[in-house]
Amino acid sequence: MPTADYLQGLFGFDGQVAVVVGGAGELGGAIARGLAQAGAHVVIADVREDPCVQRCAQICELGGKASWTLIDVTDRASVEAALNVAAAINGKVDCLVNAAGVNYGSDFLDYPEEKWDFIMNINLKGTFNTCQIFGKHMAENGGGSILNFGSVNSILPLSRVFGYAASKAGVLNLSNNIAQDLALKGVRCNTICPGFFPAEQNRKLLDEKRVANIMGHTPMKRYGEPDELIGAALLMLSKKAGQFITGAVISVDGGFTSAWF
Ligand SMILES: NC(=O)c1ccc[n+]([C@@H]2O[C@H](COP(=O)([O-])OP(=O)(O)OC[C@H]3O[C@@H](n4cnc5c(N)ncnc54)[C@H](O)[C@@H]3O)[C@@H](O)[C@H]2O)c1
Repeated sequence: MPTADYLQGLFGFDGQVAVVVGGAGELGGAIARGLAQAGAHVVIADVREDPCVQRCAQICELGGKASWTLIDVTDRASVEAALNVAAAINGKVDCLVNAAGVNYGSDFLDYPEEKWDFIMNINLKGTFNTCQIFGKHMAENGGGSILNFGSVNSILPLSRVFGYAASKAGVLNLSNNIAQDLALKGVRCNTICPGFFPAEQNRKLLDEKRVANIMGHTPMKRYGEPDELIGAALLMLSKKAGQFITGAVISVDGGFTSAWF
């Protein structure tokens, strides 16, 4: 069998619909592009309209299939509406990527309660909302695959980002629990844990001391590039290559979570 056909059989997404929540952002945007280049029709779903339109246009310029819809993961009616938009494309949604996320950092004693609630509501409850609503649709329509965004903080609590760290530990726990519950319904659920990729939600936290700490603890001594997440994401989302992978976590972090000194 020619190599291209073999790889297409393992990792191809032709005929599939993939919804990337938070797809207007840096990391979700890269995964959306990767999924489209692997053949999926990608639906960019985000709370911000202009970046949705731009991401969509970029994918279409590359010859991919993409559309967009607004979503607020904290609002279940909006999640249902986004599901309906995506399901109308081809009758069902095959893949869901949860890449929406917000962050905030301060000393613990100054950490505002409203920031805690805001972050938990988007990062953790938002993931619950989308997994439950899309997971039900997938379970009723022959199965599907969910990829949630954890973080280094899912594994190690990093200083100052108290709400974010707790939310991402929760996302990993929730993903694994969903994986168990939906395994026999044909729905797989996995987690990708990126290391440090400068983006909108974390750029303001990267002061000189934090950057030195990050680089000192990263064996590869650099930040990640968003495209470096695509391979791991396609593996976990793919129907064929990833068919026995559920409740798994892949860290893409230059070795950060493997290094202690
Ligand atoms: N950048 C990193 O270094 C890094 C590391 C580990 C994990 N992550 C996680 O990766 C994911 C993507 O982050 P990013 O770095 O691309 O950040 P980003 O800020 O570029 O993207 C996040 C996206 O989430 C969207 N969003 C925010 N609130 C929303 C809501 N209520 N409903 C729907 N969408 C909403 C934003 O509009 C934005 O487009 C997040 O879950 C983040 O926590 C990022």
